[in-house]
Amino acid sequence: MQEPLIKKAASHWDETVTAEDSGLILHYWESPLLRELVDANWQRRTGAANSAELIRSRSGRQSFGLGISIGCGSAEDEISLIEQGVVDRLIVCDISQEQLDRAEACATSRGIDPGRLIRRTYADQNEPLPEKVDLFYWRQSLHHMLDTERTLLWCRDNLSDDGAIYCNDACPPDYMQWDDRVLDFVELFRSSLPRQYLRDPLHPTEFLPNRPKLPNVDHWMAIDPTECASSSAIIPAIQRNAPNVDIAFLGGCIYALAMDDIINNFRSEESLPLLKSAMLFDRLMSMAGMNQFFACVINNRDFI
Ligand SMILES: C[S@@+](CC[C@H](N)C(=O)[O-])C[C@H]1O[C@@H](n2cnc3c(N)ncnc32)[C@H](O)[C@@H]1O
Repeated sequence: MQEPLIKKAASHWDETVTAEDSGLILHYWESPLLRELVDANWQRRTGAANSAELIRSRSGRQSFGLGISIGCGSAEDEISLIEQGVVDRLIVCDISQEQLDRAEACATSRGIDPGRLIRRTYADQNEPLPEKVDLFYWRQSLHHMLDTERTLLWCRDNLSDDGAIYCNDACPPDYMQWDDRVLDFVELFRSSLPRQYLRDPLHPTEFLPNRPKLPNVDHWMAIDPTECASSSAIIPAIQRNAPNVDIAFLGGCIYALAMDDIINNFRSEESLPLLKSAMLFDRLMSMAGMNQFFACVINNRDFI
């Protein structure tokens, strides 16, 4: 384990999970209006209603034995997989004890037999898992692995013969150091918004710039060194090792990158037309190859 980095990340996530709610909407997934549009985009791009449907249709299997979710967070989706009969038993793994507590509490509140949930704080990717896994479930956590290609190959090596790897994750440049091409489009989009939408939610008398100021690598090293540590390597690693896998690119350069710091200003129904335009702009950028998010299912048989 790369102890200092992982310890820093663990305490960051413990703090994030227990932080007091500011009442502000600071991420796209916290905005009910935008979330509905983003979910519809996910369904259109993947052709599935949810992760269970995508896993079943792309794997050809209705149910799996042992699943594992590394960086599981509160594991709500994963617990739904148990409820829907997609997985029988599930290893929930997270370096944050607070996240694991939440995952267990979520399972208990939904009446899941505790024997079906196995709690782990860390999976050492230099070692094989004690038993082969039928389903790896990655949801916004693969991009926290320090060497994502190595992680993908470790998953393959620990996968049962007809097992599958589900990914619904992020693929931005490492540490989200977006290039000028993307930032130029983001700036163009933000400069098209009426000025009041650029009001800074944290300092309401001030306005945020059209071109967002991105935190640099040092910032992430100080806060959470696992944040997008090698996220740019994910797509090339999948394409190199499992070239026939159908990857659904989900956009995100507008609905996440351009909107996260200003989404609090789009709370009323009146902003819905602007959010729809944002999604259109996002879709065009996605089609031009600019994407923050993707989803796919890699079956063991897909590896070459
Ligand atoms: C962005 S959150 C995603 C949580 C959850 N999967 C979700 O979709 O809500 C990333 C999670 O990965 C965890 N994490 C980061 N590095 C990890 C590692 N090496 N092993 C296990 N968990 C890790 C963090 O503690 C955090 O809970």
